[in-house]
Amino acid sequence: MSAKRIKYIDLIVGARPNFVKVAKLYKILKKSNFRPFLIHTGQHYSNEMSDVFFSDLKIPLPDIDLNVGSHSHAVQTSLIMQKYENILIGRKVDMVMVFGDVNSTVATALTAKKLHISVAHVEAGLRSFDRRMPEEINRLATDAISDYLFAPSEDAVKNLLIEGKNPSSIFLAGNIMIDTLLENIDRIKSYDICSKFNVRNKKYYYVTIHRPSNVDSKEMMKKTVNFLNSISNDCCIIFPMHPRTLKMLDYFKLTHKFSKYIRILSPQSYLTSISLEMHSKAVITDSGGIQEETTLLNVPCFTLRDSTERPITITEGTNKLIRAEDEYVKDIIDPKKRRKKQIKNWDGKTSERITDFLKKI
Ligand code: UD1
Repeated sequence: MSAKRIKYIDLIVGARPNFVKVAKLYKILKKSNFRPFLIHTGQHYSNEMSDVFFSDLKIPLPDIDLNVGSHSHAVQTSLIMQKYENILIGRKVDMVMVFGDVNSTVATALTAKKLHISVAHVEAGLRSFDRRMPEEINRLATDAISDYLFAPSEDAVKNLLIEGKNPSSIFLAGNIMIDTLLENIDRIKSYDICSKFNVRNKKYYYVTIHRPSNVDSKEMMKKTVNFLNSISNDCCIIFPMHPRTLKMLDYFKLTHKFSKYIRILSPQSYLTSISLEMHSKAVITDSGGIQEETTLLNVPCFTLRDSTERPITITEGTNKLIRAEDEYVKDIIDPKKRRKKQIKNWDGKTSERITDFLKKI
């Protein structure tokens, strides 16, 4: 057998969705005799935003934690770059693999590329076409410099081709978030989540909101609170709250404006969160990953945003974009929201396809 050209791979994680994306790939790479090295940037650091995902998904502890913590975009990105450069220099690294669209993704991709190390981007090609979103800038910049572009869906491949990326650098690998979901589906199904949260199956809305566009202005935050209050008259709400949202609610003095039918919780673990999605009547969110998970689970999803980088969840899934306005309440109870198609390569085998691809380069 010929010697592998790629063996030592830095896998970069930093924020909550990254942990979900790396979970299965790490194991498959290891089994296939690659040497994955797990680098945690420390962008997310609290137990409920980080540690609990490692234990829930049985991810080994990171080999290195850069411990950057929370800062403005420029400070966080540059701190990750400085710290990661120190870690990269002098180590044998054949490839740096980055995930998704968070600050840790672009910061480490830039650092590696400037040291002439190959960069692979998992979840390449997604575009919301809204450059006010920090994640859109991270996606564009990361894809611009990556050597290998692992796209989750055909629309992502198309975006990369339109931008002039070399077709030989693009590979339709599939949706890596779905790998983790399907790998854990039996554990998720075995949770008696309704008893745990004292709710009835399909009789509550599950809500997650944390995007700056929804929570960083008082006007938007007020609209969101009013919207949730109005729909909670219909059906109770379970709302695990992201620290950014909690902080901004407090800052705008809106924390006590929620109706009594809305249960505010701390951020939940992966398995609990998916289980709550699965048994809900509908999910209301601004998260990227949850738009995909609800499509796979065939649960109606209402995304509180003007655009999505995951249009396939609308055209072939259960997702619909909404604004925080009362007129949408009727959509939420619309029973027609059902997944129509099996989406190509959302089959739980993305990690295997990426690993097979790496064996051949
Ligand atoms: C980041 C990502 C976003 C992703 C989200 C998932 C960027 C630009 N944004 O947004 O794409 O959807 O993660 O959750 O990378 N905090 C804690 N504990 C933590 C981490 C953060 O309390 O472990 C608090 C801090 O007060 C911080 C705030 O949450 O200022 C926001 O965290 P930050 O990482 O800046 O952005 P997110 O909103 O989490």
